[in-house]
Amino acid sequence: MKFQKICVIGLGYIGLPTASTFARHGVSVLGVDINPHIIETLNKGEIHIHEPGLRDAVTNAIASGNFRAATQPEEADAFIIAVPTPFQENKFGEHNGVTYKLADMRAVISAAESILPLLKKGNLVVLESTSPPRTTADLITPILARSGLVAGRDFHLAYSPERVLPGQILQELIENARVIGGVTPASAEAGKDLYSIFVKGQIIQTDATTAEMVKLMENTYRDVNIAIANEFSRLADKFGVDVWEAISIANLHPRVKILNPGPGVGGHCISVDPWFFVEAAPELTPLIYHARQVNDSQPHFVVETVKRALGSLSGKKIAALGLAYKPDVDDLRESPANETVHLLQEQGAQVLAWEPFKPDAQLPGINMADSLESALKDADAIVLLVKHTEFTKFVPADIAKITKARILVDTVSGWDSEQWQKAGFTLLRLGVGK
Ligand SMILES: NC(=O)c1ccc[n+]([C@@H]2O[C@H](COP(=O)([O-])OP(=O)(O)OC[C@H]3O[C@@H](n4cnc5c(N)ncnc54)[C@H](O)[C@@H]3O)[C@@H](O)[C@H]2O)c1
Repeated sequence: MKFQKICVIGLGYIGLPTASTFARHGVSVLGVDINPHIIETLNKGEIHIHEPGLRDAVTNAIASGNFRAATQPEEADAFIIAVPTPFQENKFGEHNGVTYKLADMRAVISAAESILPLLKKGNLVVLESTSPPRTTADLITPILARSGLVAGRDFHLAYSPERVLPGQILQELIENARVIGGVTPASAEAGKDLYSIFVKGQIIQTDATTAEMVKLMENTYRDVNIAIANEFSRLADKFGVDVWEAISIANLHPRVKILNPGPGVGGHCISVDPWFFVEAAPELTPLIYHARQVNDSQPHFVVETVKRALGSLSGKKIAALGLAYKPDVDDLRESPANETVHLLQEQGAQVLAWEPFKPDAQLPGINMADSLESALKDADAIVLLVKHTEFTKFVPADIAKITKARILVDTVSGWDSEQWQKAGFTLLRLGVGK
């Protein structure tokens, strides 16, 4: 199948890199987003998110004449849906006393509906948004059937999850293996034709539900692995062990690969996707459910560690370094750092947060510092919540000059205790009970 024009619906962390990469490979791309501010920003040649190389990619795509952005889709050969699939904020499911979060599929539904008047015989529709099992078959297929066309017979329909690492999205889009699940083998083949335009990694064809499940399994595996690391951090703390040392030794076993503990699990993917399994089959997912509980409660363990470092939190001034959900990105969604700041405040601490990747972020109930210096200046303690490279490069003697704090709590193993001690600091690391 040949593709001259495609529509990419949703221009966020996934849609925008995908759209600009197709444009760079000679396809005429209409990027669509319901947020008019994003469309204005892009059409001015600017970008609204931080991702290395993305500014150049979008500028080049616009300059080549292959990329435009608009709030409404147009007729095209293929439509890619890359809209958010968060969980619902205030609604929960319940099964035998287990309360679980529910997927919010409204953006996917409205994106699919926006294609309806444009859908033609021979088109390809690909859902990229991470979705609960059977979304393509049970949610997207009936919506698109309202066009009078049948998926798999009149047009191709596929599910192809994105597995890129924020910070390396443009490179991984091209190099990663990609799974394409079609509602029919011909739909998977059409999907392969589309992504072969730029994907250099292996392209695996399967059915849509398998592809949906593969994506959820990948992120659930990581969530459960981090949950066990977090539980180990609590055990190490109890038994006078350094969890970081213990994990690095355990990982010398050729068949063991424990991930790192930390303040919890955040972001738009790993902290959300496992719930899609729990919602779809609560009776089958006790392990996945409990792993979510462990990771969601890890900020409480951070607060206990900070409390131990400071004696009491009441009236103490704390500099919280990093609010992103992981190092070197500006994405603050579902960040455990955010939750940790709230919990510290609930216990009476006065927290000033500094996030170098989003210094002007406005988060309810969180006081943002306007510079690193102002965050640190009057602090009684500094809590490292995200392993941003620039934090790990701090020179302890320089930091000692700009803060009166001499107590550090490192939740991500970003700092070397000895070096900080030499500069007069006391450092407590999460999960170190020595
Ligand atoms: N960010 C990641 O690293 C990552 C990795 C793998 C998979 N995913 C998945 O990809 C999907 C998209 O994630 P993201 O991080 O790009 O989200 P995002 O929030 O960065 O971007 C989504 C964009 O879609 C727009 N949108 C919402 N509803 C729309 C509609 N009906 N029509 C047009 N535009 C609409 C929003 O305005 C937003 O700009 C999610 O399902 C996510 O789980 C994300």
